[in-house]
Amino acid sequence: MPKSSDILERVLVLEMVRVTEAAAVSAAKLIGRGDEKAADAAAVEAMRAALNGLNICGTVVIGEGERDEAPMLFIGEKVGRGCEGESPEIDIALDPLEGTTITAKAGANALAVLAIAEKGNLLNAPDVYMDKLAVGPGYSDDIIDLNKSVTENVTAVAKEKGVDPAEIIVCVLDRPRHEKIISELREIGCGIMLIPDGDVAGVIATTDEETTVDMYMGSGGAPEGVLAAAALRCVGGQFKGRLTFRNDDERKRAHKWGIEDLDKIYDLKELAKGDVIFAATGVTDGSLLEGVKKRRSGVMTTESVVMRASSGTVRWVKSEHRA
Ligand code: FBP
Repeated sequence: MPKSSDILERVLVLEMVRVTEAAAVSAAKLIGRGDEKAADAAAVEAMRAALNGLNICGTVVIGEGERDEAPMLFIGEKVGRGCEGESPEIDIALDPLEGTTITAKAGANALAVLAIAEKGNLLNAPDVYMDKLAVGPGYSDDIIDLNKSVTENVTAVAKEKGVDPAEIIVCVLDRPRHEKIISELREIGCGIMLIPDGDVAGVIATTDEETTVDMYMGSGGAPEGVLAAAALRCVGGQFKGRLTFRNDDERKRAHKWGIEDLDKIYDLKELAKGDVIFAATGVTDGSLLEGVKKRRSGVMTTESVVMRASSGTVRWVKSEHRA
């Protein structure tokens, strides 16, 4: 068996991009067609086929749902053609189409997303909500704290940035459940970037100065939280996440995946440990990536990013697809 430190070395970083590209190109055929399910199904099928072509022994730890509710890429599904041999054992968190509604409505920031790590290094987050708080790189450790108020967090970040709290820009999912956060931010006078969907891109936006977004706040999918944390492990920034449960069924599900402390606040390294590779391809144009484009010649173009935690390398990949 390969030594654990070699495991991700053996997985070509570019192979990850091929997987997200395949999902994005398939989903893109359904941009603006008003059919979330069809777009998601196209992305799932393409991502699964691409993963199954790789020489890995992968286990989906964050996927399309549990075996009984997801026919493909369910949690626990083995992917790759290497499980019989000596191939590296890796865990995979995936979202073949992050932003199904965005895609159906031809909005901004839909992505095909994937993160891999050595076995046991990604939190097996159940499909529940997670309270999220994120800030970009360059701040002192633990500057953000989910136990503190919106005002306290914004004030701490503004102080280190050397600006007035009213100058801080915060990205928030546009949901009625965020009314309190939004009104507290309005009282401070912050700029609020309200996004309709797609909080993986929202969290990553805090790491990119061009977006002008300083912080991310609010609750969204826990699986998306682990994916966003994997990206921040590679490019810097801080992220805190706390699972939230609406009923006993959700709490039971968390126990089933080995989560004992239901109130725990997770840090980046507890969501995505060790060496991690994160890859994403744009489906629709967004703050992180350009979407899939079909040229008049019939050639499809994609833009992707792939990053690695151990080296901090970020590669931007533009591809042309002729098939
Ligand atoms: P889907 O791609 O599964 O539709 O998720 C989109 C998304 O906006 C995520 O980015 C976010 O974490 C979650 O949905 C928020 O959930 P809800 O729409 O229930 O508020």
